[in-house]
Amino acid sequence: MKALSTLAREIKPSATLAMDNLFKEMRARGEDVLGFAAGEPDFPTPEHIRAAGIAAIQNGDTRYTPPAGTLELREAVAARLRESFGLAYRPEQIAASNGAKTCVYVSLRALVDPGDEVIVPAPCWVSYVELVRMVGGAPVVLETGWEEGFKLTPQRLAAAITPKTKCLILNNPCNPTGVVYSREELAALARVCVERDIYVISDEVYCDLVYDGAEFTSFAALGEEAQERTLLVNGVSKSYAMTGWRLGYVAAPAEVARVITKYLGHCTGNPCTISQKAAAAALAGPREPVEETRRAFQRRRDYMVERMGRMPGIRCTRPQGAFYVMMDVKGLYGKERFGSVIRSDEDFCRLFLQHGKVAVVPGTGFGAPGLVRWSYSASMERIREGLDRLEQFLLHA
Ligand SMILES: Cc1ncc(COP(=O)(O)O)c(C=O)c1O
Repeated sequence: MKALSTLAREIKPSATLAMDNLFKEMRARGEDVLGFAAGEPDFPTPEHIRAAGIAAIQNGDTRYTPPAGTLELREAVAARLRESFGLAYRPEQIAASNGAKTCVYVSLRALVDPGDEVIVPAPCWVSYVELVRMVGGAPVVLETGWEEGFKLTPQRLAAAITPKTKCLILNNPCNPTGVVYSREELAALARVCVERDIYVISDEVYCDLVYDGAEFTSFAALGEEAQERTLLVNGVSKSYAMTGWRLGYVAAPAEVARVITKYLGHCTGNPCTISQKAAAAALAGPREPVEETRRAFQRRRDYMVERMGRMPGIRCTRPQGAFYVMMDVKGLYGKERFGSVIRSDEDFCRLFLQHGKVAVVPGTGFGAPGLVRWSYSASMERIREGLDRLEQFLLHA
């Protein structure tokens, strides 16, 4: 038999999904295991959004729509971007698709030729590097650490740009670090992008989930020249607890949106028509459910960070956005737990799952070796129990 595509065979599976699957298998076997691996809100989709989905089915909104989504949905996206960030987009500059994930992919498709470089600051969401490879691009991963507060600086960005650089993927607020860039920090990055003429895929899916009064700034809101180079990716998964509805969007310069729409027309067709109706209701609807979600996440974050901060051998981030805490386990390297020596974040996660019965994700998959990601998208009771288990695990010699 002929070999399968080299490009396809070389794609690495998602570290997050791998850990979540392992956790689900253990749970299916009846084991008392707690999961903090998944990246989805644990709240139900708000009632009025569910009702809009049900009404869509009952009203017969079950047919094909234009590939980039209905005019109703694209107008709802434009109105949300205007209201939340003061951004002006026309509906033809917006393409909706099957989740923000697909939007990042088609954005890369629109920009990247084989061999083009794409700058990805790390720690980063597990899919970026593989998505860049999937379009034949060359990922240029810029690792950041505690010293820089896990932030990309304009100096690092400028130094990494070559004649082959096509774009930067910036995720703000960031999964997994919870970093939120200030307007000034973003403006400094935007100046480099404008001067050196590169695009920015700005993944803003966690825009509504920021804490401690941190202010979220959309990259496209940094002025006309920044907006001309920005492919703003967002969606309804995180803000409205709609992960399963699979609805994301990209707002971009008209020419870029046209190319993306052409691509979608052949590749996916429209995103689910029912989900489009529900997403339009989410974007145009009341903001209280979003604010309630944000407050619940902030309470959980406070609790997790406070308790982890008192535990020996580890340290953790204090995320200003998204819903993940990064725990540094390098202080445990060389130590023995349950008969095995911990030498990496992967060792830690394996042992912690096996003996502590808690699933967390190794940082290596995020370009963050030595760190471990906890999602605090779980009830307070579960978080309390998970941290009790961590305490026990750390104490076990
Ligand atoms: C940074 C980031 N971008 C995009 C996505 C994908 O979102 P969607 O469910 O809209 O595909 C995720 C989901 O985990 C994410 O963390």
